[in-house]
Amino acid sequence: MRVAVIGSSGQLGGHLVRILDDKKYDVISLQHADIECGDPESVQVVLGSIEPEVVINCAAFTDVDTCQNQPAEAFCVNALGALYVAQACARVGSLCVYISTDFVFDGEKGESYAEDDYPNPINVYGASKHAGEMLIRQACPQWLIVRMASLFGKTGNFVDMILRKARMGTSLRVVDDVYMSPTYAYDASRALEQLIRQRTTGIFHLANAGRCSWYELAKKTFEIIGLSPVLESIHSHDYPYHARRPKDSSLRRRARHDGLDTCLRPWQQALEVYLDTKTN
Ligand SMILES: NC(=O)c1ccc[n+]([C@@H]2O[C@H](COP(=O)([O-])OP(=O)(O)OC[C@H]3O[C@@H](n4cnc5c(N)ncnc54)[C@H](OP(=O)(O)O)[C@@H]3O)[C@@H](O)[C@H]2O)c1
Repeated sequence: MRVAVIGSSGQLGGHLVRILDDKKYDVISLQHADIECGDPESVQVVLGSIEPEVVINCAAFTDVDTCQNQPAEAFCVNALGALYVAQACARVGSLCVYISTDFVFDGEKGESYAEDDYPNPINVYGASKHAGEMLIRQACPQWLIVRMASLFGKTGNFVDMILRKARMGTSLRVVDDVYMSPTYAYDASRALEQLIRQRTTGIFHLANAGRCSWYELAKKTFEIIGLSPVLESIHSHDYPYHARRPKDSSLRRRARHDGLDTCLRPWQQALEVYLDTKTN
C-alpha cells in the first residue's frame, strides 16, 4: 500500500515512517522542504504526482503558546493546510488521515473524553485543529481523524526537557492541576498503522491508557531514571502559559472500537520503555 506521510520529520511522523517501513508499506516521507501545506498548489502537485492510497497528515503548527500570538499562521497550517491536503486526497481518491489533538476539548467534562464528545476549544491552537477536522470532513469522502495527546517520542518533548534541566542542576516548578494522557509516539504510531491497514474511517482517539498531571509525569520520569532534582508542584495560575490549557483533556476510546487491537498500554509502562531506549 502506498502511504504518504506529511510532516515526517516531526515527533510523530518520524516514528510512523519507521513503523510503516518495517511493515513493508511503500512509504513516501514528506518533510516541510518537500511540501508546503499552506500552499494548495504545492500540495496538489506533490500528492497528485505520488497518487498515494493513504495520506497521513502529521504536519502542524504545534507550539500552543506561539499559535495564540500568530492565529493566521496557525490556521494556515492546521486548518487551511488540512483542507488543501483533503482536497488533493479527494482528487486522487486517497484516504485522508488527519492527526488531531485532545486540545479540541475544553477540559471541563470532569472525566476523559471519548470520540463522540463535543469539541469546544479554548485556545487558538485547539480552534485551528478543530477547524481542520471540520474542513477535511466536508472536503474528502474518505477521512479518518485520529486525536492524540501529549506526545513523547523523538527529542524535544516535555520529558526530555525536564531531564535536561534536572541534569543541569536546575530546580523545576511543574503544574499539578492540568491533566492529560501522556502518549508515546511509538505506541500511537503502531496503533495508527493498524487503523490504516483496516482502512478505518471516522474519528478515533489514540492515547496511552490513564491520565496524570504534568507534575505527576515529571515525578514518574525522575523515579524511573533515578534522579532527585528539586521538583515543586505549582498551580497553573502561577505558570506563565500564554494560551489557556484545558483542565483535563485526557482521552479514552469508545467501547465500539474494542474489536480493534489498538488498546495502548498504560502511560507509565510506555514511559519506562521510552526512557529505556534513551539510556541504552
Ligand atoms: N506534540 C504533541 O504533544 C501533540 C499532542 C496531540 C496532538 N498532536 C498532533 O500530532 C501531530 C504531530 O505532532 P508532532 O508533535 O509530531 O509535531 P511536530 O514535531 O511539531 O512536527 C510537525 C511537522 O510538521 C511540519 N510542518 C510544519 N508546518 C508545515 C507546513 N506548513 N507544511 C508542511 N509541513 C509542515 C514540521 O516541519 P518543520 O519543523 O521542518 O517546519 C514538522 O516536521 C500534529 O497534528 C499535532 O497537532 C501533537
